[in-house]
Amino acid sequence: MSFTHPNFGTLDDSRIIIFDTTLRDGEQSPGFSMNLQEKLRMAEALAELGVDVIEAGFPIASPGDFESVQSIAKAIKGPVICGLARSGRADITRAGEAIAPAERKRIHTFISTSPLHMKYKLRMEPEAVLQAIHDSVTLARQYTDDVEWSAEDGSRTEPDFLCRATETAIRAGATTINIPDTVGYALPEDMARIFSMLRERVPGADRVIFSAHNHNDLGLAVANTVASIRAGARQVECTINGIGERAGNAALEEIVMALRTRHDAVLARPQVASEKILKTSRLLSAITGFDVQPNKAIVGRNAFAHESGIHQDGMLKNAATYEIMTPESVGWTKSNLVMGKHSGRAAFRDKLRSLGYGEIGDNQLNDAFRRFKELADRKKVVYDDDIAALVEDEVMREHD
Ligand code: KIV
Ligand code: ZN
Repeated sequence: MSFTHPNFGTLDDSRIIIFDTTLRDGEQSPGFSMNLQEKLRMAEALAELGVDVIEAGFPIASPGDFESVQSIAKAIKGPVICGLARSGRADITRAGEAIAPAERKRIHTFISTSPLHMKYKLRMEPEAVLQAIHDSVTLARQYTDDVEWSAEDGSRTEPDFLCRATETAIRAGATTINIPDTVGYALPEDMARIFSMLRERVPGADRVIFSAHNHNDLGLAVANTVASIRAGARQVECTINGIGERAGNAALEEIVMALRTRHDAVLARPQVASEKILKTSRLLSAITGFDVQPNKAIVGRNAFAHESGIHQDGMLKNAATYEIMTPESVGWTKSNLVMGKHSGRAAFRDKLRSLGYGEIGDNQLNDAFRRFKELADRKKVVYDDDIAALVEDEVMREHD
């Protein structure tokens, strides 16, 4: 399938659009709000990383959010700049004004479609929701040809109604259809089923890009995103470090590297400069004051660290034994063989070489290794300085 998109031209089947919502859904999580300067810095970093779309904020939410979206629209070249809007006129007008200065712009408008949300949150009948979809997309098209429509709580929406809602949005001029798993409830096969159904059943489905937007309440956001791609989604919505409402959104770095590492299984080409991932992740941590957990995939401090002797030995022989991507490919300078109580003699010898003690004799090595193990039982991490002190001590003893 290939078609012409207002901002992306002709797209082939394997091209994946990376829609970054760090500055909108990510910023909505408690403690993660950013001021104008911080948002601008982050937007620059996202543009350097090469994301395709930056969702810069929710312009009606506050005067500050409006200003941030407008400033990003003025300053950032390259990615499409997107503003979020509910289905009402005021929201869409505000979003349209905020994104106006952008070279490439998008309005993203949404309304809930699940029975639960329509009844309790919107207090609207399904037919009124369909009318609101028609009106909101039609109005948004007056500001830009690139309009994304989202079915909030899409994964818990009745299939027939989701098809009708999607068809209404396409007829009104939406160019991207986003199906969020708003509450992170879906399993990968649920998301795959939804995208396959929409592509099969909805008239005009071949004229739009389908988009996945998964939350991480069950820790499945990235798995659901990959399953969505396999079922035909061509845009993925994600955030740096996976920040976002509650348990967060699908993490950009994990999606990109899953696609790169498993291109044998998933036909998808994200055009992101992956070696800038770590730098971007660290910038976000510095701005928000929240570090990622050590075992966070790709960007956590332990993502390329190895302590066990068996793993360290394998790494010294061939890094592919225990690493499925190179640390350099995501911005680390190298793998880290951490010296601790699980480390073996091979890694210890290698560490001594790197510290300039390559010539140490076997007796000294054995004694130093024994004392290193004793120290490692007492200390969680044994630093290079500790090891250097041990070896110096051994050398001194030999001379006495
Ligand atoms: O999770 C969600 O449903 C959203 C929509 C606004 C797209 O963030
Ligand atoms: Zn969301």
